[in-house]
Amino acid sequence: MSTPATVEVALGARSYAIHIGPGLLADGPRWREALRGRHALVVTNEVVAPLYLPRVLPQLEGLRHATLVLPDGEAHKTLASASRIFDALAALGATRDACIVALGGGVVGDLAGFAAACWMRGIDFVQMPTTLLAMVDSSVGGKTGVNLAAGKNLVGAFHQPRAVIADTDTLASLPAREYRAGLAEVVKYGAIGDAVFFAWLERSAAALAARDPAAVSAAIAASCRHKAAVVAQDEHEQGERALLNFGHTFGHALEAASGYRSLLHGEAVAIGMLAAARLAAALHRAPAGDAERLAALLSALGLPCAMPAIDPERLLALMRLDKKNLAGHLRLVLWRGIGAAEVVSDVAESTLLAFLGGGRS
Ligand code: NAD
Ligand code: GLY
Repeated sequence: MSTPATVEVALGARSYAIHIGPGLLADGPRWREALRGRHALVVTNEVVAPLYLPRVLPQLEGLRHATLVLPDGEAHKTLASASRIFDALAALGATRDACIVALGGGVVGDLAGFAAACWMRGIDFVQMPTTLLAMVDSSVGGKTGVNLAAGKNLVGAFHQPRAVIADTDTLASLPAREYRAGLAEVVKYGAIGDAVFFAWLERSAAALAARDPAAVSAAIAASCRHKAAVVAQDEHEQGERALLNFGHTFGHALEAASGYRSLLHGEAVAIGMLAAARLAAALHRAPAGDAERLAALLSALGLPCAMPAIDPERLLALMRLDKKNLAGHLRLVLWRGIGAAEVVSDVAESTLLAFLGGGRS
């Protein structure tokens, strides 16, 4: 068994480690110290529970613990599910020193983290991400939340986990489409801030597409190092953290326009990153060749690149709802080329509309 990699998220007294490697869920001695109190509630879902709960539960011996198995899917990332977590904590007699263990993908992690932020005004939680997207993005950095009928992630809190345990063995059962969607977020780190990592991804695309364990672990560790560095600098997204939204303004609009059905988040981000890169090229802010390198990498990883046929006016209206916008001005994350993302607020809506109308690939 290979040695796990450890990445530190440096946040002073709230610093924590991300452990990445095979066999970690069953390796209690590595992570049990993160559970400081007497009570633990494992929150998971009906897909993940039969696969991975038997690896985790024996490690909790000696604690008063319970498990809450929620239905699967984004539709359950709601206040109603958070309420079920509160009820389970109450039934457990959970006190301030209790810990929630979030075992699952980003939906479980965001929801369980949000409940941890609220219970008794904030208790510990440990992220055990089981999707690639959750390992490289959602489990790290402390953004937690739930959806409302009015929109995604509208209610939430910044609440950092005590530890992240990314057991790469769990990726073996992940459906191919979900795995590829996670790769889009991996590409994002190279695209926004690390041209050397981007070039490594280009060279490793075949190995990553084939889920070669060494390549996958290296990609997760590099992604977590990038995210940890950004979060350590700008925990509450006052500046640099906004760059992590490269591709997301277009992507969120595409997801919303498709009713969150036809595109997975990572697929929408892939299309969105390419749109951002092509817009930057059209505005002469970045080399067109870099956008085409991005297109080639995304394709090699099996990700979609083509903008779906959606009315540009509708997309623009959805982009206006982006949380990054300030005082009615669109703020976009574009790039100056591979490894050099920037926030731009001087793109006229008419320019964007013309691009959306003519920029389909
Ligand atoms: P998800 O949690 O819905 O997981 C995708 C699917 O894979 C689900 O059906 C799940 O049950 C299943 N699954 C999970 N692990 C599995 C495994 N090992 N084997 C087989 N099936 C498995 O989706 P996701 O892509 O992990 O996360 C998306 C969520 O993350 C969204 O709600 C998004 O808003 C959120 N997110 C949050 C942040 C953040 O910073 N907090 C960042 C990005 C995304
Ligand atoms: N996923 C974007 C962030 O954590 O800021």
